[in-house]
Parts: sequence; C-alpha cells; structure tokens
Amino acid sequence: MKRVRQNIRIKTKEQLQGIRESGKRNIEILDTVAEQIRAGMTTEEVNQIVYGKTRALGGMPAPLNFQGFPKSVCTSVNNQVCHGIPSNEVVLMEGDIVNVDVSTIYQGYFSDSSRMFCIGEVSPEAERLVTVTRECMEEGIKQVFPGNRFGTMGNAVYRHARNNGYTVVRQIGGHGVGLEFHEDPFVSFVSKAGSGAVFVPGMVFTIEPMVNQGRNQIYIDDSNKWTVYTMDRKLSAQWEVTVAVTETGYEILAY
Ligand code: CO
Repeated sequence: MKRVRQNIRIKTKEQLQGIRESGKRNIEILDTVAEQIRAGMTTEEVNQIVYGKTRALGGMPAPLNFQGFPKSVCTSVNNQVCHGIPSNEVVLMEGDIVNVDVSTIYQGYFSDSSRMFCIGEVSPEAERLVTVTRECMEEGIKQVFPGNRFGTMGNAVYRHARNNGYTVVRQIGGHGVGLEFHEDPFVSFVSKAGSGAVFVPGMVFTIEPMVNQGRNQIYIDDSNKWTVYTMDRKLSAQWEVTVAVTETGYEILAY
C-alpha cells in the first residue's frame, strides 16, 4: 500500500488571528449574497456582488485566476456538484437550489465557506436535500476535538447522508486552508471511523460535503474543464465551513 506523507500545518496564534479576520470577511460577503440573491438574477451578478464586496472589505477573491478559474466565486446550480462558473447565461429561477462558494484572501490569509440558497419556493425534495446536507456538515463539526481523527469526522458526515437515503461524492472533499487556498490534508467525507490523521490544536481545514440525491457518480464538463455534474442529473447540495481545532474542540472561522 502506498502511503502519501501529509504535511498538515499547525497554525500559530498570530496565523489563527489572520485566518479569523479573513473568515469574518468571508462571512460578511456571503451575508451580502444572502440579502440580494433572488429569482431573475444571473450567476454573473452574484459574481459581481462577491467581487465588489470582497474588494470593499480589503480582500481579494481567492478563486479569481486560481489555476485559470475565470471568476471570483463558484455558483453551482441544481445538478451541478461544484465549480459552477458564473455566467450571464445562467438565470436563477424559482425552484432552483444554488451553492455559492466564497473564498477570501485577506492580508495573505485564506478562508473558505459556502452556503446553499433556495430560490423562491423549491420542491420538498430539494428542500430536504439542502437541510440534510447542512446537518451532515454539522455532524462533522461536532467531531472536531483534539485526539479525534479526520476519518471519524468524515464517517459521521457520511452516515448522516446515508441514513437519509443520499450519497456523498468521493473524489472531491475538504482541505487544509489558511496560509494557502488548499493545503494538506485531503478531507474525505466517505472515510472510515478511526482512520486518518489525529486532530491537533491549530489545525485549520474545511468541512464541505457534497451530498447527492441520487448516485454518487460525477463528471466534469468537457467544455470548461471545471464544472462538476451528477452523472444521473439528480440534485446535489453542499455546505462548507472553515474550522480550527482548539484545545477543547473547534472554532468556526468561516461559515
Ligand atoms: Co473548499
């Protein structure tokens, strides 16, 4: 068996304070999106809200030009799993569910969180997926304390999804964050309890399960090489927080 050596950074107090300040801005940007998002708006308009608010708060959107990504935010609608690219062509419609994934660089520190928004009245099935996905993330958060393991946390997420009849995307997951956009480790939400690295105070990472209504198979859009879709075209939802491991449990740095 091949073992990949992981380099999980333990952040200093000063670094944690920097990430906290970045995260405060990330939260404020998502709050601004929450106030304004509505039916009839294009995802490009959401992109402009995120860019404008981030700059006004003294930050830079981390996704912009990251590995060639063309926009300031990911907007993933309905059967898009993640990495949806904002566009003038995509108009949000009553009944849509959309993930808005915001990542901020502030004074060199990175934060990352995403929320689901229901556009107007959505179907009971869509609403349940959004609610259960949020609960999955919360089940994960509860498992963050020193001495517990990444795998146990991911397994709690997985079990809650499965118990509700949903599947969890395997290939994409969470990540360390703070001094860079993506740091070690890769954080799985289909992991085995008792596996993975042990949580140590000062670790900072994301909990961001992608939960599917149908099967867990996904594919990447061949035309833009970014956007991930469910293979069966059923709905997918995602919530994301940036959390730090503290001496006694966790601190949410971005929501
Ligand atoms: Co992330």
